[in-house]
Amino acid sequence: MAPFSVGIVGAGAIGRLHADVIAATDFAAVAGVADPTEAGRAYCEERGLRWFPDHQALIAAGGVEALIVATPNQTHLPIGLDAIAHGIPALIEKPVAVTVAEGEELAAASDRAGVPVLVGHHRRYNPIIATARETVQGGGLGRLTTATVLYTFYKHDAYFELAWRREPGGGPVLINLIHEIDLIRFICGEIVGVQAVTSDRVRGLPVEDTAAVLLELANGALVTVSLSDTAVTPWSWDLSSGELPNYPAQPAPVTSHFLSGTEGSLTLPGLDLWRYDGEKSWFAPISRQALPVTRESPYLRQLSHLRDVVRDGARPLIDAVDATRTLRATLAVHEAARQRQRQELHYG
Ligand SMILES: NC(=O)c1ccc[n+]([C@@H]2O[C@H](COP(=O)([O-])OP(=O)(O)OC[C@H]3O[C@@H](n4cnc5c(N)ncnc54)[C@H](O)[C@@H]3O)[C@@H](O)[C@H]2O)c1
Repeated sequence: MAPFSVGIVGAGAIGRLHADVIAATDFAAVAGVADPTEAGRAYCEERGLRWFPDHQALIAAGGVEALIVATPNQTHLPIGLDAIAHGIPALIEKPVAVTVAEGEELAAASDRAGVPVLVGHHRRYNPIIATARETVQGGGLGRLTTATVLYTFYKHDAYFELAWRREPGGGPVLINLIHEIDLIRFICGEIVGVQAVTSDRVRGLPVEDTAAVLLELANGALVTVSLSDTAVTPWSWDLSSGELPNYPAQPAPVTSHFLSGTEGSLTLPGLDLWRYDGEKSWFAPISRQALPVTRESPYLRQLSHLRDVVRDGARPLIDAVDATRTLRATLAVHEAARQRQRQELHYG
């Protein structure tokens, strides 16, 4: 069978990662790359990839079974709509769009045309996350009570040379926390209330550098997230899960997530399951079982899922409707902090 033919829009950091992932498979091929910049063209030349100045030219060239949209957030809506209009399924990088209204527009267009849109919340494809979801949703922790998430790390100074990263919207809430919000929704359940305090005291930029977030879930569980991009710690999924090759391995195992319930608790990424063998009591010894950890690139699994959606009609693991809920909850963090008030989330 001919390789699954994927067009990539945007030859930046994540677009190149997708191209590398595709190149390493035996089932997919890059149909071409669209990027208006000289750097994008040079990259394609160097890699022997077909270059196009924009996604329209890439689509017009034909032979594209799916698009990966790896461009700046504000372009996700127009490029996504064009893909749908041409009947081409798209994997759009996170966030699905810039506003909830835009996300809903994409979801409605995808639904009307019957053309799937997937959103690049890649952590969902990590086998560790899949095991955590099965354990929690299968009742392995009993009734979920709390989750504690540490998402603290230090962004190097050069990161802030790009102006948009110093402005509201370019900070760790929309760039990083959105991954945790999606992970919590996926593993633990829907978010119905959001409280948050953000701070810009350390870097003194117009964008936040630190946040304390409290999420209420529909099932009654309470989740706290500590977020900072100016803290020297290894306590984050990115730095502890080994998911991305550009972060170094840590010298000792690190835990970033603590999920607790009435029958047991689970840590991530290590997948330690803590339970009582006999009577449940804080005076009784508690046992630890290490659940098997499978390491596999979530980006590769995401690509293979995209192929299954396009070729076999599989249901997207995360579509535009679902990703818009993640965006809504993430934007509510900013709103809660700004208003100093709890935000309630309703889903129609
Ligand atoms: N899932 C993940 O792990 C992950 C990681 C990083 C970034 N992202 C998301 O991916 C997207 C891109 O982020 P990045 O870090 O790669 O950004 P980047 O700035 O490194 O790259 C963006 C690229 O898009 C190109 N571009 C801009 N407008 C374009 C257009 N209209 N058509 C074609 N190309 C265009 C730019 O020239 C640039 O090469 C963002 O939405 C970001 O949130 C996801």
